[in-house]
Amino acid sequence: MYGTIRIEQNPHAKDKPSVEDGLGFGRYFTDHMFVMDYAEGQGWHDPRVVAYGPLTLDPAAMVFHYGQAVFEGLKAFRTEQDEILLFRPDRNAARLNRSSERLNIPPIDEAFMVHAVQTLVRHDADWVPSAAGSSLYIRPFIIATEAMLGVRPSAQYTFAILLSPVGAYYEEGLQPINILVESHYARAVPGGVGNAKAAGNYAASLKAQMIAKKHNCAQVLWLDGVHKTYLEEVGSMNVFININGEIVTPSLSGSILDGITRSSVIQLLQDWGVPISERKISIEEIVAAYENGTLLEAFGTGTAAVISPIGKLVWQGKELVMHQGGIGEITSRMYEAITGIQTGKIEDVHHWMLPC
Ligand code: COI
Repeated sequence: MYGTIRIEQNPHAKDKPSVEDGLGFGRYFTDHMFVMDYAEGQGWHDPRVVAYGPLTLDPAAMVFHYGQAVFEGLKAFRTEQDEILLFRPDRNAARLNRSSERLNIPPIDEAFMVHAVQTLVRHDADWVPSAAGSSLYIRPFIIATEAMLGVRPSAQYTFAILLSPVGAYYEEGLQPINILVESHYARAVPGGVGNAKAAGNYAASLKAQMIAKKHNCAQVLWLDGVHKTYLEEVGSMNVFININGEIVTPSLSGSILDGITRSSVIQLLQDWGVPISERKISIEEIVAAYENGTLLEAFGTGTAAVISPIGKLVWQGKELVMHQGGIGEITSRMYEAITGIQTGKIEDVHHWMLPC
């Protein structure tokens, strides 16, 4: 499929960042990247691992003008036995194709995408960090590269994969974050691109994120774009709330992302016999639960953020503090479980981990 992956060794290997200085998120990149091109009539071709470096694009490349771009995020982990494991990469490959389908980008064979990730990670294997809480973040993306200013789907694309050794996503690390419930701006509406991992969704979220920062909040919690009532998702995470022992998470309405960590968390809660519902949750229900003392804890889930405790929701000037601003029981149990499976410390009964 698409030919053998050609490998061009980078003659200028970089110094690796020291984990002690804190890797942060997405600041460092490894020595190589994967690239493959598409042209109408020719299909996807020339898969290659090459030195990490700038891509040369025509200034009229359609991605710059009409934003035809989709991406993914997944991680590789180094176990204590020095094995490298990928967390559910088949799910990312399938979701990238669903995002591409929505943006009229040609699909890529899913098994080949996983093979490309494995090949690249294996090639830069000594970049996979081993310190607790660290991992190798993998960023596949597709951009429209045809030089053309007419509004129509591009006839040319580039698919690339970057690798970045990372620590915690939030500056707060594993500390609870504050979230501003957004009442003015909308992220997505049914029929839009909210359930695609489209680059433009993130561009459209930045204004609200900056407003949230002014309120000392790390992110916004989006409400549905039609009624401004029902919870959707947090900027880079899906959200789970513990109301009186029942864990609730917004159902996949068509305008939120079908998170891979989200579906893994649902599976684990079911395994544990903890009540879990995917349903509509109104902000009024959350406020009422806070007022009657049943709003017990909340956390976000995502590849980058893993399991991120939410200390407080801010809604129309009201501060809904949960678990005295600390980390809830289900939140910490889930963090231990997910990271334990990912790093090979807990048995992977669902066969989520794929060796590299
Ligand atoms: C991820 O969790 O992988 C994401 O894509 C979120 C964000 C870094 C954009």
